[in-house]
Amino acid sequence: MADFSKEINKRRTFAIISHPDAGKTTLTEKFLLYGGAINLAGSVKGKATARHAVSDWMEIEKERGISVTSSVLQFNYGGCCINLLDTPGHQDFSEDTYRTLMAADTAVMVIDGGKGVEPQTRKLFKVCAMRHIPIFTFINKMDRDARDTFDLIDEIEKELGIPCCPVNWPIGSGKNFRGVYDRETRNVLTFHDTLKGTKEGTETVISIDDPRILDEISAEQKELLEEELELLDGAAVEFDRERVDKGELSPVFFGSALTNFGIETFLDHFLEMTKSPMARMSDEGLIDPMDENFSAFVFKIQANMNARHRDRLAFMRICSGKFDANKEVYHVQGNKKMRLLQPQQMMADDRHVVDEAYAGDIIGVFDPGIFSIGDTVCAPGKKFSFEGIPTFAPEHFARVALIDSMKRKQFVKGIQQIAQEGAIQIFQEIRGGMEEIIVGVVGVLQFDVLKFRIENEYNCEIRLDMLPYEYIRWIKDYENVDLDKIVGTSDMKKVADMKGRPLLLFINSWSVGMVLDRNEGLELEEFSRN
Ligand code: G4P
Repeated sequence: MADFSKEINKRRTFAIISHPDAGKTTLTEKFLLYGGAINLAGSVKGKATARHAVSDWMEIEKERGISVTSSVLQFNYGGCCINLLDTPGHQDFSEDTYRTLMAADTAVMVIDGGKGVEPQTRKLFKVCAMRHIPIFTFINKMDRDARDTFDLIDEIEKELGIPCCPVNWPIGSGKNFRGVYDRETRNVLTFHDTLKGTKEGTETVISIDDPRILDEISAEQKELLEEELELLDGAAVEFDRERVDKGELSPVFFGSALTNFGIETFLDHFLEMTKSPMARMSDEGLIDPMDENFSAFVFKIQANMNARHRDRLAFMRICSGKFDANKEVYHVQGNKKMRLLQPQQMMADDRHVVDEAYAGDIIGVFDPGIFSIGDTVCAPGKKFSFEGIPTFAPEHFARVALIDSMKRKQFVKGIQQIAQEGAIQIFQEIRGGMEEIIVGVVGVLQFDVLKFRIENEYNCEIRLDMLPYEYIRWIKDYENVDLDKIVGTSDMKKVADMKGRPLLLFINSWSVGMVLDRNEGLELEEFSRN
């Protein structure tokens, strides 16, 4: 029993969010380096190729040179067992990223110090804020000329609406970047080149009050730092653990992932400031991670890791107890007792079968086509469901036409399976069958993924005709709404989703308001819960 709680207590599960190019991949790699999971960080030049080798399964990724799927990396650091959820960097695959965020307890937001808050940071931040999870900020690329530190902090606070509390403060940037000052210990950590970031750096720690500090930073830099700190002490919000836990205050750190500077101090503070796995809400109330009964929910389904077998992996976040491969579990939505097949954990391309895992961990299990995103798996005899994963509103729509009508069966199967995995959303005419299918996606590249997969895995040729709709609204309380009586606009289309729930598509955003005006009592929602 002591072991059981010890194991869960040392778990930390987090995701990194960033705008493409801010340095998420580099930072992830450096975490692994410090965690001892890899010995030598891939030379930066070769990184792009190396990355493909490790986390890209689908051909299309190689063709496009982007990361479509996300993987999970587990490593140990400072006595903690860390599950790092890696999210796709390309903005077109943001829906997968959104779902991955549902499995994390904490988010690390990487910001490019030269650029500040960028569009994708904003979008992802919103999802984290919706969940009220703690958000840590790492301002990266300080080895390049960065914007004024106060401006950066100000921008995060204003644009994202979260107060910030700098835990450390940079000394210079670009060529003049010397290190960071730790506000709590009053120590200066200086920065030395770390073999271009391939090896863990050696840091020198000197108190700001020690005269030897002037061997490390210039007198002007010291003076400027002292001025800035005075200003900061007067203006910045004080660190408040409770507010950090609720996602109401973001601790901010500075560093350079490329040169390994600031990584170790970030990890140390981060682990100290974060908690072991948090309780999750279900229809039977909060489920405590320390509850000895196993429970988990599916947040991602990854298909086609082996195109020949058309196998799928369902990724689950364990929410309570211990997973034991020898014990049966109960799949709530399928109403079935079962054994999870080939449970595995990943470390980049290295998948290994696991016999046990604990709350906070992520496992992938073989899925013969029974799981859907959001499903709950728990101990037999229990019967609760975790809160659903929201379906994010698609922003692009197309009508799918099958070229050879003889292949209708494979086509319907394929499109339904791909939708079940959550890669696309499918809609039909109200009261229509699978005769006309409308596909909605969050990012347009998902259309290519769909076409590629339907052709390669299901052997059907399809044509996609783009539709001009951009806005989608689910109808709240639809059972009590007479759909035929809804007074629409000329650009509105009524369709139903896979679960038969009616919704409205619009070309123009102002039509949404118009329909609300024209139909008293009608309530529309931007996303639906599964
Ligand atoms: P992403 O996953 O957020 O998209 O970013 P990624 O880590 O791939 O980094 C994007 C680019 O920024 C890479 O350069 C990377 O080397 C660089 N970079 C990351 N962190 C730092 C840093 O702290 N300082 C500096 N100066 N650069 C950093 P690239 O030229 O686009 O890629 P590559 O050809 O070097 O692989």
